[in-house]
Amino acid sequence: MKTKSNINIVASICLLAAVGSVQAALPLNPLTIPKYKDPLPMPNKLTAGKLTITASEFAQQVLPSGFSPTVVWGYNGTYPGPTIDVKRGETTTVNWINKLTEANTTLYNTVLSVDQTLNWANPLGMMVSLNIPPPYTGPVPMVTHLHGAMVSSDSDGHPEDWFTSDTSPLGKKYKYLNDQEAATLWYHDHTMGVTRLNVYAGLAGFYLLRDDFEKSLKLAGNSKDDPKYEREIVIQDKSFDVNGQLVFPSDGVNSGIHPFWIPEFFGDTIVVNGKTWPYLDVEPRRYRFHLLNGSNARFYTLNFPNGLPFWQIGTDAGLLDKPVKVSELTLAPGERADVIVDFSSAVGTEFILNNTDKAKAPFPDGDAPIPDTTGQIMKFRVGISVTKADKTFNPAKIPTPSLRADNPIVRLTKVAPAKVTTRTLTLNEVQGAGGPLKVLVNGKEFSAPITETPKEGATEIWEIVNLTADTHPIHLHLVPFQLLSRQAFDVDSYQSVYDKIDPVLQPNPEVTPYLLGQPQPPDANENGWKDTIRMNPGEVTRIAVRFAPTDTRANVLNAQFPFDVSKGPGYVWHCHIIDHEDNEMMRPYKVIRTKK
Ligand code: C2O
Ligand code: CU
Ligand code: CU
Repeated sequence: MKTKSNINIVASICLLAAVGSVQAALPLNPLTIPKYKDPLPMPNKLTAGKLTITASEFAQQVLPSGFSPTVVWGYNGTYPGPTIDVKRGETTTVNWINKLTEANTTLYNTVLSVDQTLNWANPLGMMVSLNIPPPYTGPVPMVTHLHGAMVSSDSDGHPEDWFTSDTSPLGKKYKYLNDQEAATLWYHDHTMGVTRLNVYAGLAGFYLLRDDFEKSLKLAGNSKDDPKYEREIVIQDKSFDVNGQLVFPSDGVNSGIHPFWIPEFFGDTIVVNGKTWPYLDVEPRRYRFHLLNGSNARFYTLNFPNGLPFWQIGTDAGLLDKPVKVSELTLAPGERADVIVDFSSAVGTEFILNNTDKAKAPFPDGDAPIPDTTGQIMKFRVGISVTKADKTFNPAKIPTPSLRADNPIVRLTKVAPAKVTTRTLTLNEVQGAGGPLKVLVNGKEFSAPITETPKEGATEIWEIVNLTADTHPIHLHLVPFQLLSRQAFDVDSYQSVYDKIDPVLQPNPEVTPYLLGQPQPPDANENGWKDTIRMNPGEVTRIAVRFAPTDTRANVLNAQFPFDVSKGPGYVWHCHIIDHEDNEMMRPYKVIRTKK
């Protein structure tokens, strides 16, 4: 007890020292940042094996040269972290090391205000007696989650599995079996109540999982081809001060209750692979891009002004059955798109990848992006010749070639167990005097007892009723799912029935009597394995989830994971607007293991 209150005093003194620097620098006007000066950075590559990956703080040239380097956090000294490139079946262990010590981190002191009134990692176990506790400034808690990985929950990066630099043994060893279909995964921090801050600081990277089916397609960037024709692209929005340092708002909307938490962070500057508004020189040929929205809360609707299409070949969790041609691509935080862009018709031109005015912030009814800043992502400069003939997979061939000829997506609608569990779940926002006080999944806080306990091998339908005014990208750990439909419902009538129940103790009212119109099928480019899906306001989103590996055949009803799925702390499902996730829009869930 005594130690705790001493620590509290120390923290308050630290705060006093820090406040000055928080307010010292003026915001950097994004219009004064020259665009398209630096090339798109290519993350370092790591392959499978026994890896050690260390998170630390360092300065990196995020803004163009001429500006000061920006203090960020990253893995193995880079932001974004190295891309881990593995083949199916190659087990990888990563010893995640935390060198974000109290002495070596300035971001928690100067930029990122840890809101101690949230349910958060609380490394010093401080009992905060003040109504408005100061921001925490000790060693940084971290835990890494591999988003999209089918892993044992003791390697999943459970939000309460965080540790600090002074935990012994140093670091946490996670094991990734990589026994799943090829997909664009990514890893990022997942610490309880501070994920939005730790990811904003830079703790994110790609993890590309390959398999033989993918290899046989000869996609651009395939090993026989030149790897530079395959590029990963993570889009994030940030704000800077005139010293080139990160800025993150700390004026809570309900400051008497949560002094620093804000419902959504929107930056005024676009950063791609750790660089503001970069360019990429390409040859007039096909490229494969792994696109990731790694932002806190901003959605993007990407489009090329010259009408060049994206041929989407993969979703979050694997290849589509066939390429889908789209001229516009919307990505919510956490979502990925695996696309092919053919630059051969754009010889010698340069153009910008835009973020169109459909990408409102908040989505879908907030402010449109500003055309000269958040409305632009990066520039492509197309050369006049190719270094060698392009023999890679051509998605534009007629008829459209299959991506999974011998290995079509197992459709969960074809799985026919005797009984399907359907869960009616809700998304809720709790209003305070100044705006949202917290956001909930299923009317419950994280700490309420677990309510979702599916059985291993079972297929379930989750009907998620969005009672808020925003689109929430909902993500499940452990398994991807398939979108069945979205359907409008009468929000006010449902809400009035819902208001009469106690959501912690009683089941949610059925939504069927309130449905409106027809269920809408998934968009063609969502019709594959998804692990993060947009759930729009005024709609019920239905997903089918099977608690089994994705390539389990439809007639196998008792599939198991290649590990004990009941072991460890369990899994979570949550909104991937990480500002929401940090303030209760996340629930634990556990899978019950079947015995054979
Ligand atoms: Cu990408 Cu639970 O997160
Ligand atoms: Cu995840
Ligand atoms: Cu949300």
